[in-house]
Amino acid sequence: MADPTPADVIVLFGGTGDLAQRMLFPSLYFLDADGFLAEPFRIVATARAEMDRAAFVDQVRSAVAARAEPEGLDAAVWDRFAARLDYVGADATTPKGAEALKAALNGARTPIFYLALSPSLYPSVCQALGETGLASPQSRIVLEKPIGHDLESSRATNRAVGEVFDEERIFRIDHYLGKETVQNLIALRFANTLFEPLWNNLTIDHVQITVAETEGVGDRWPYYDEYGALRDMVQNHMLQLLCLVAMEPPSDMEPDSVRNEKVKVLRSLRPVTRADAQAVSVRGQYVAGVVEGKTAAGYPEERGQASDTETFVALRADIDNWRWAGVPFFLRTGKRLPERRTQIAIQFKPVPHSIFGGSAKEDLAANRLVIDLQPDEDIELLLMNKAPGLSEAGMRLQSLPLSLSLAKAYSGPNARRRIAYERLILDVIGGNSTLFVRRDEVERAWEWIDGVAAAWRESQMAPKPYAAGAWGPAGAFALIERSGRAWYD
Ligand code: BG6
Repeated sequence: MADPTPADVIVLFGGTGDLAQRMLFPSLYFLDADGFLAEPFRIVATARAEMDRAAFVDQVRSAVAARAEPEGLDAAVWDRFAARLDYVGADATTPKGAEALKAALNGARTPIFYLALSPSLYPSVCQALGETGLASPQSRIVLEKPIGHDLESSRATNRAVGEVFDEERIFRIDHYLGKETVQNLIALRFANTLFEPLWNNLTIDHVQITVAETEGVGDRWPYYDEYGALRDMVQNHMLQLLCLVAMEPPSDMEPDSVRNEKVKVLRSLRPVTRADAQAVSVRGQYVAGVVEGKTAAGYPEERGQASDTETFVALRADIDNWRWAGVPFFLRTGKRLPERRTQIAIQFKPVPHSIFGGSAKEDLAANRLVIDLQPDEDIELLLMNKAPGLSEAGMRLQSLPLSLSLAKAYSGPNARRRIAYERLILDVIGGNSTLFVRRDEVERAWEWIDGVAAAWRESQMAPKPYAAGAWGPAGAFALIERSGRAWYD
C-alpha cells in the first residue's frame, strides 16, 4: 500500500551534478515558494567532493537564480530555502559514506533518496543504504533513467534495488510524465465525454508522435553513444506518450490502476522482426548542416570518430488489440532537427461519404486533434467549416482549429511554466506513484526495444546520414508514405 506520510528530508545523490543543479534544486525552490514544503523539510546533497556548507549554498544559489529569471530570487523564500540545505561530502557507495549521511540525517523519519547518479552506481548505493539501516520501511527511493541498457541489465538493476526497497517505495522517474500537457492528455481523454467514444479504430486513422530537438548531442556523447535515440528517448518518453494515448480508461487514478493499463498496451505492441525492420523502422545520424540559421557540426565530429549510434529514429508501431487493430502509431525523434517540437497528432478518418460536390469535395479534410507539448502547450482540434462568402461554384470548405491555448487560458500565479520535476518531486514527498514507472512497465518496454535493436543488428541496418536541420533521412518520409500518409511538418 502506498504510504502518504509526507517526507521530511530529501537526499540528493549527485548533488553537485548537472541534473541536480539545473532541475532538482530549482524545482525544490519553486515548491518552497508555492508553500509545498511543510516544516520540517530538509534538503541534503551528497557527492564525493569535499565542500563546506557555505560554498555549497552559494553554488545552489547561482543554479536557482539562473532558473528564476526574469523575476529573480525572492529574498524571503531564498532565506527559508537556504536554511533547509546541507551538504555531505562522501562516497555513498561505501558503508562509511552511508554512515556519514546517516549522521547528517539526524533521525529523519521519512527520507527520500534521490539517485541523480550514474545508474551503474544504483546497486552499490542501495546496498550501503540497506546496511546502515537508512533504507527503513518509511523511506523512498527515486531512480533516474536509464534503468539498464536492455532487458537483462534493467532486470539486474531492478533486482538489486528491489533487494533493499519494496516496489511501492521505488519511484522511477520519466520526466515526461511530469509535464503539464502530458497530464492534460489524461484529462482530455477521461474528463470529457466527447473523445472516448471516438477513440478507436472505427474513427481514428493513425497517430503521430514527434519529439524533435534542435540541440545536438555535444559533450554528452560518452553516454549517448552507448544508448542512441532508441534507448535514450523511445524506450521511455515516447513509449510513455504512446501508452497514455492508447491505454484503456483506468478505473481511477490510483498508481496501479493507471500502470496496469499502460502495461497492457506495452504487452500488445507488435514485435519488430528482422523481416520487417526495414519496412517499419529508420535509423539516422546527423552530419554537418544548418539548424535555426547556424551551422552545426555532424555527430561524427562531435564524437571524434565515426559511430554506429543513431541520433534519429522513426518507427511504425502497431498495437495488436481490439481498440487499435489497423491503426498505426508513427513515432519519430531526433537531435539536430529543424525545430524543437513535441507533438501528438491524432488523425481521424475521412467522412464516410461526401455530400459536397465541386470544389468543396476537394476541400474536405479529415479532422485532426493536435496536442502540442513543446515549445508551446496547445491543444487544437481541426474541424471543417464553411468558408464565409459567396461563390458561383457553390460552398467552399476550410479546416479551422478549435484551440485551447494553455498560455492564453491561464494567467496569474499558476501561469508560470513549471519544471516537470516540480510535480514529480511533490508526488514523491506525498508518496503518490501514479506518475512513476513500475518495474514491469520498464521491463516490458525494454523487451520491445530489445526486439527493435536485435532486428537492426540482424539486418545490419546502419544509421543513414541526414544533414543537421533536416527532418531525418529520406527513409523517414518513405516509412510513413508507404502507408499512404505523411508527417505533419
Ligand atoms: C532526456 C534525454 O531524457 O530527455 C535527452 O536523455 C533529451 O537526450 C531530453 O534531450 C529531452 O527532454 P525535454 O524535456 O527537453 O524534451
